[in-house]
Amino acid sequence: MIRVGLVGCGWWAAHAHVPAIEAHPDAALVAASDPDPARLAAMTAGAPGARSFSTVEEMLAVSDLDVLVVASPAAFHAGAARAGLLSEVSVLVEKPFTLHAAEAHGLVRLARARRLGLSVSLPYQYTAAAREIRALLTEGRLGDLVGVHAVFESYTAPLYSGDVDEYLRRVNRPHAVAPLPGTYADVAIAGGGHGQSQTSHVVSAIMDATGARPERIAGESVFVSPGMDTANAISLRLSGTAVATVFSSGGALPGLAAQQSVTYLGTAGSARHDLARATLDWATADGAGGHVEPGDGESAYPNGAPVSTLIDAVAQVRAGHSDAPLMELTAGAERAARAVEVIESLYSEDAVRD
Ligand SMILES: NC(=O)c1ccc[n+]([C@@H]2O[C@H](COP(=O)([O-])OP(=O)(O)OC[C@H]3O[C@@H](n4cnc5c(N)ncnc54)[C@H](O)[C@@H]3O)[C@@H](O)[C@H]2O)c1
Repeated sequence: MIRVGLVGCGWWAAHAHVPAIEAHPDAALVAASDPDPARLAAMTAGAPGARSFSTVEEMLAVSDLDVLVVASPAAFHAGAARAGLLSEVSVLVEKPFTLHAAEAHGLVRLARARRLGLSVSLPYQYTAAAREIRALLTEGRLGDLVGVHAVFESYTAPLYSGDVDEYLRRVNRPHAVAPLPGTYADVAIAGGGHGQSQTSHVVSAIMDATGARPERIAGESVFVSPGMDTANAISLRLSGTAVATVFSSGGALPGLAAQQSVTYLGTAGSARHDLARATLDWATADGAGGHVEPGDGESAYPNGAPVSTLIDAVAQVRAGHSDAPLMELTAGAERAARAVEVIESLYSEDAVRD
């Protein structure tokens, strides 16, 4: 049995991670931590085998965990993930991975040195479409990548002013547990607004698909209060041959379907990844092409896949098999750390002052 511990007993843990842990035949939630006693009690009441702790350090000291899921607000991700890795536990970290790229890269180095799994909860990357664009680009089937352009619209703006009820009502999300307003609206713990919460998804998707490093980054944001942004426009030079642009806004309103797509243009072909629908359409100059979409029963946003994939990889090692799947997840975390470089630059002193 893979023993899982949870850091942060909030909305997303209850909605995405805990159901996936409970549904996994080889895993059990054995411990949970949260500084808020009511939230902690509500979570462990629904998971009778789980012990309660007010801090991650206390939990790690006595729980003999195999996997740690970090679903606390963004500012606490790096510290909890580091504590887990230092206790020889593989870690899934919610997005945004960390607030600072140096923290993210440090965690990747630590995980590699100890041959542990480190993964970032980015469900858009767990679809057949995401796997196909990664394969097309890795195998060079679109030729040399020249340009990437992305648009990522969502209905998240109310979150950045702390109006959680309005957000949940608007997106019609079921919620036994609602997010605490500060998780998204308090700069001190959210690290920023839309860039941290949403633009991190689309930039991570580009870094994951291309495997590139961001060599030059320029960004402009709309700030509604100091450090709290609702829209971003980013221009990147990627390692290799490509340039990229990303426009991302939390101000989309219901009525016109939000666009969430990334287009990849190469010297021999092009591809469009629709993140919202989890589809990929691609074509090459020599007449090849394809369309990928979720299969029957597959979600376009498989939010339980990050934790179940990490559990599977840890279980493989436990059974005496190769740790290659575990280390592949850690390689994915390195690509996610490059996205943190991009997002961090949006909140640089200059950008905030402007
Ligand atoms: N991948 C996704 O699609 C997705 C979706 C929603 C949220 N998230 C991420 O999940 C994380 C949590 O978001 P949420 O919506 O569940 O928020 P939430 O406010 O519902 O939950 C956060 C919980 O963490 C607790 N907490 C605060 N400080 C802590 C600490 N130091 N250690 C442990 N717990 C602490 C809070 O008491 C709260 O119960 C955020 O990083 C958010 O960006 C990801």
